[in-house]
Order: sequence, then C-alpha cells, then structure tokens
Amino acid sequence: MSRYAEITGWGKALPPTVLSNADLELIVETSDDWITSRSGIKERRISHVAASEMAELAGRRAMAAAGIDAGGVDLILNATCTPESIIPASASYVQAMLGATKAGAMDLNANCSGFVYGYVMADSLIRAGAADTVLLIGVERLSWVMDYTDRSTCILFGDGAGAVVLQATSGEAGVLGSVLGVDGTMADILCVPNDGTIEPGSASAVTRIVMEGSDVFRRAVTAMADASETVVRQAGWEVDDIDLLVPHQANQRIIDATARRLKLDPARVMLNIHAYGNTSAATIPIALTEALEAGRVPPRGNLVFAAFGGGLTWAAAAVRFGERVMPRAEIEDDLPASDRSVWELLQPNFDYFGRLERL
Ligand code: UT7
Repeated sequence: MSRYAEITGWGKALPPTVLSNADLELIVETSDDWITSRSGIKERRISHVAASEMAELAGRRAMAAAGIDAGGVDLILNATCTPESIIPASASYVQAMLGATKAGAMDLNANCSGFVYGYVMADSLIRAGAADTVLLIGVERLSWVMDYTDRSTCILFGDGAGAVVLQATSGEAGVLGSVLGVDGTMADILCVPNDGTIEPGSASAVTRIVMEGSDVFRRAVTAMADASETVVRQAGWEVDDIDLLVPHQANQRIIDATARRLKLDPARVMLNIHAYGNTSAATIPIALTEALEAGRVPPRGNLVFAAFGGGLTWAAAAVRFGERVMPRAEIEDDLPASDRSVWELLQPNFDYFGRLERL
C-alpha cells in the first residue's frame, strides 16, 4: 500500500504587541505611504516572550487541530534562524514544554525558506517510514536581530510562529513536486555578520541583519517564480489546478510578481503581510493557518508553497492537501498578556545601538 504524508493539524501564535508604520515614523526617516507601497506591510508584532513559547503554543494548537497529543509525536522539526541558544537547539525547549517524550527534536536553519525545507524533509521521512507523525514549526523572534536605526530593514520584519502536524496516510496527499535551492556565493547580501563562531570572541560585536534590499528583491522574484513553475510542472498541474498559492510573505511586490509569472488569479494567492510583515520561517505556516481559518483551502486542494531568503535559499513545493480542512479541536489558551509597551520591549535594541553609535 502506498504511503503518503498528510497535513492534519495547523496553528499559529502571534504576540499581542503591535509595531505600526506610524510607530516607525517616530524612530526612522520613513512614512506609512512608503512602507505600504514598497512592501505591503502595515504592522508587525514584537514578542515579549521567548521564541520557544510562541513555538509551543503554535505546536499545541496544531496538535489540537490534528486531534493528537504530544506523546504521539515522533519528531519535532523547528525551523528558525533566531534560536534562543546555540546549545541546546531551541527544539529541545519546545520538546520539554510540550512534553513530547517520545519525539526526536532538532532546529533547522534555512532562513526564510526553513518551513518549506522542513516540510519537504518531514514529508520524505514519513513516506520512507522513518516517522509516522511530525510536528513542523516555523518560529522567529526577528526583533532580536533588528537595528531600529536602519530604515531599510527594521520596517520589514516581525515576530511570530506557525506549525503543522504531518501524519502518515494511504490516501494520495502531500508533496507532488519540490525544489530546494541555495546560492551560497551571494550569502553576504542578507546576513547577520560577526555572529556565531566565525571569529572567536566576536559573537557580541554586532548582532543585526544587514541586507542589500534591492539585490535580494530581484533574486527573490526570479527564484520564487522559477521554483513555483518547476513544482507545478512536476505535479503535472495546469495553472487552473492551483487552488491557493501560499507564498513566503517578504514583500507584496515579490508575491505579485510570482503570481503574475504563474498567470495565477490574485484571488488564489494568500496574503497577510500587511498584518505581520516578514516573520521568516514562520510566514508560510501562519498564512496557511489563516487560509484554513478563512475557508480558502478546499478538501484535497492543490497548494503551492514558495519561499526565498537568507543563504541565499529558495524552496517550493506543490502540495495536495488532505480531505479534512476543519480542525478536530481548538484550544482557548493564548500567550500571556504583556504589561510592557512596544517601546519598552524595544528598549534593549535602542540601548544596544545607541551604545554602538557612541563607540
Ligand atoms: O525574506 C526574504 C528576504 N527579504 C526580502 O525579500 C526583501 C527584499 N527587498 C525588499 O523588499 C525591498 O528591496 C525593500 C522594501 C527593502 C526596499 O524597496 P526598494 O524598492 O528595493 O527600494 P531601494 O532599496 O531601492 O531604495 C529606494 C530608496 C532609497 O533612497 P535613494 O537612495 O533612492 O535616495 C532608500 O534609501 O528608498 C530609500 N528607503 C526608504 N525610504 C523611506 C529605503 N528604506 C526606506 C524607508 N523609508 N523605510
């Protein structure tokens, strides 16, 4: 009997504190009009809790939707480029908080493409029989690496988490085509330099994203469109067969260009970038969850995931969704309320970059 991997659960966790374009106008030379017209973003979230707390809640919601408990998870894949520590991987914190005592757990860093990389890996592990149930999480606390004096980056990124549960099934579902790509020769046009082990002793020198935005933009348009076309062809689909494109939310203009290349009706494109900005590996599982909540994924629907980001990585997957598009159960719990304003949450960044400017 053939073995496939079906998405049976989905969930998200967004911190409550909003950083709006109007707020950004107060701290950098920018305008709501510029940010909206160049990126599509209106606001983003800033987390007052650790990334693992967002991951845990998104994971628990996904498990509730799947109707499973943590003891039934074989593997936790935690896609992130903003881990809480180098050792242990953040996945260990998430595993402990969930009480997933029978699971293996690891972080996976392919930057903004991390969720799609993880999805293709999870699907393959299940098909190969190495796992029956995988919890795949995309989570980022990008405010941690933001320089809120740099208007070219700080307007784009935000915090959040999304998760899916994949389970073995005999009905045809899951990945019907996939592309995983990278151009490491261009890695330094989107990076956090001087962090990690590259130069001993340098880890705390500067911890911020630097990006050559327009170069990244051009490459993202080409790579996401090429990868999407390839997976649609691999799946044997025509454009009319695509029910929903669920793209990485980095810039609405990149998403529009990808849809144009596929000749896809904009009504079949999931967009929520206005609300959360770019949450890197978390954008696609958050967008997928919201698409399901809005009834935009039909039973056995054909989806395309496509992403591009640091590395420079890109990835796409043509995905056949399962029969069930309603959650088996939902949980009421939320992240704890925050008693701090957005400015209080960002104070450590301001202190840090103020100190650097004085050096
Ligand atoms: O997750 C994947 C990785 N990230 C991405 O895919 C992001 C890719 N890049 C982008 O989304 C876009 O390049 C940006 C939104 C970052 C910038 O848009 P752009 O249309 O490529 O603008 P640009 O970088 O070419 O800059 C145009 C002008 C510049 O001024 P001059 O040199 O023409 O006088 C910038 O200094 O806009 C200026 N600018 C701003 N102005 C107001 C840059 N940032 C801002 C800002 N507000 N926040």
